[in-house]
Amino acid sequence: MQTIRDKATLRRAVDSWKAAGERVALVPTMGALHAGHMALVAEARRHAARVAVSIFVNPMQFGAGEDLDRYPRREQADARMLADAGVDLLWLPPVEVMYPAGFASKVSVTGVSDGLDGAARPGHFDGVATVVTKLFNQVRPDVALFGEKDFQQLAVIRRMVADLDMGLDVIGVPTQREDDGLALSSRNIYLAPDERAAAVALPRALGVAARAIERGDDATTAVALAREALTAAGFAVDYVALVDAETLTDAPGEDRPRRLLAAARIGATRLIDNIAIPLKHG
Ligand code: PAF
Repeated sequence: MQTIRDKATLRRAVDSWKAAGERVALVPTMGALHAGHMALVAEARRHAARVAVSIFVNPMQFGAGEDLDRYPRREQADARMLADAGVDLLWLPPVEVMYPAGFASKVSVTGVSDGLDGAARPGHFDGVATVVTKLFNQVRPDVALFGEKDFQQLAVIRRMVADLDMGLDVIGVPTQREDDGLALSSRNIYLAPDERAAAVALPRALGVAARAIERGDDATTAVALAREALTAAGFAVDYVALVDAETLTDAPGEDRPRRLLAAARIGATRLIDNIAIPLKHG
């Protein structure tokens, strides 16, 4: 695996693949890799001859008072995992390569970015859209892979890629979970043992609410069930919402794919998760 930290070397590496007619997949990450990221890498391999992974803890997507400074950084361990998984290239841009002095541009996706995490974390999705645009321009992938755990992020990136004719495929990969159902996340390491034990209430609450919707309960009832379960487990709830899986707008029709999303804090740690609501038949 080649580890690259400058744009000229990256360009040469990708140029040589393109000249050989090889498809390129990109898995953008912020590092602190876990089995969820490795599932993205495995899926990437199915779509392209060459797999590149980027690790960049993007300051632009963290708000004031968020966890930018303490976000886990484990470059060497990450590099070993990626090399073992047969990744071809690790793109590790320093912050001054990504955002040189004078940097003044921003990519903003309206609508799908506005509610949910967009409302709770102002500017977050502008930061994501901007850095992902830069990563796409730098690596020039044919396909890029993102986890469904960050479901709104995936929707924002799909919208951006379509709107701006970016000419690559975006693939969402199902969330990887611990045995008890907690979604894998680099932020799970922040959880104290008692918080970790309580955190399982998040996927469980979503499951309870999803089953209620499937039984025919309305969204308000189902969301209230999830909120109650989360509060009882010690979470402070940011939101629980049933939305259209593509536009993320409220009050989706039952003939459309729907998604139930939640964000909640346990102690100082904010967790997100989501679950698909199957289409109603008949
Ligand atoms: O999901 C992440 O890890 C980040 O938001 C991403 C897509 C790598 C952009 O910084």
